[in-house]
Amino acid sequence: MDFTNKNVVITGGTTGIGLATAKAFISAGANVWITGRNAANLEKATTEINNPKLFTVISDTSKIDDIAILEKAVAESGNKLDVLFLNAGIATFEPIANVTEANFDAQFNTNVKGHFFTLQKLLPHLADGAAVVFTSSTVATAANSGSSVYAATKGALNKIAQIAANELAERKIRVNIVSPGPILTPGLEGAVPEEAKGYLAGATALQRIGDPDEVAKTVLFLASDAASFITGTELVVDGGYLNYALK
Ligand SMILES: NC(=O)c1ccc[n+]([C@@H]2O[C@H](COP(=O)([O-])OP(=O)(O)OC[C@H]3O[C@@H](n4cnc5c(N)ncnc54)[C@H](OP(=O)(O)O)[C@@H]3O)[C@@H](O)[C@H]2O)c1
Repeated sequence: MDFTNKNVVITGGTTGIGLATAKAFISAGANVWITGRNAANLEKATTEINNPKLFTVISDTSKIDDIAILEKAVAESGNKLDVLFLNAGIATFEPIANVTEANFDAQFNTNVKGHFFTLQKLLPHLADGAAVVFTSSTVATAANSGSSVYAATKGALNKIAQIAANELAERKIRVNIVSPGPILTPGLEGAVPEEAKGYLAGATALQRIGDPDEVAKTVLFLASDAASFITGTELVVDGGYLNYALK
């Protein structure tokens, strides 16, 4: 897929799915801005990608002031954005009885409020005909014990994406959702215990955990002209996880 000189913003682009997607867009010729909260992670990603078409912005998506920093960086670049990949996310798994207000707020502020206001603030910088992709999750469809808050954030995000697809259609901006199942990333490794990985692999039809590159390829597809008649939809990348539970 060719994204030569297209301008792409990826929130949460320093590790896992975001980093894999940044690499894929760079390989396809795009200029890519990645964000993250942590300067060291951004530096590590810069070293790993090692390409002058990569730009970094320290921006915590859960904070409105930090979203303004990202907006300023995009405005100062003088470019209109062709692709916005709203991917930053955090997850904590625990029973409802144990959830604290701080934990609830942290997940909603990052996974929902952050994406909503990043989209809102970057709307004037999106080119007509641009593509927006939200990272949701199969948890929004499943009802796994321990996932109440995280799953609720992704359910909310899906609805925001569907409505954004309708509101932005007049500018020919397509908005879609990529919903990964279990993907081997630092985020997954931090959120689930080691022994759960075997269970997660066995819960997919393909009997394995996915690779971040497999999600990245899907994001590039959704952002490309190959998906020109696709908007407001969710593309599940889960090795058959959701279906397999029904067998
Ligand atoms: N891995 C899976 O199995 C899986 C499955 C379904 C959905 N997802 C979703 O996929 C997305 C990426 O997850 P991942 O598995 O690739 O996790 P990851 O390796 O932990 O990557 C998360 C990225 O988001 C950044 N980030 C986290 N909080 C942020 C914030 N407040 N502001 C800005 N950046 C922030 C992190 O950088 P810093 O820490 O440096 O800020 C990092 O770049 C998330 O939305 C997650 O919910 C993952």
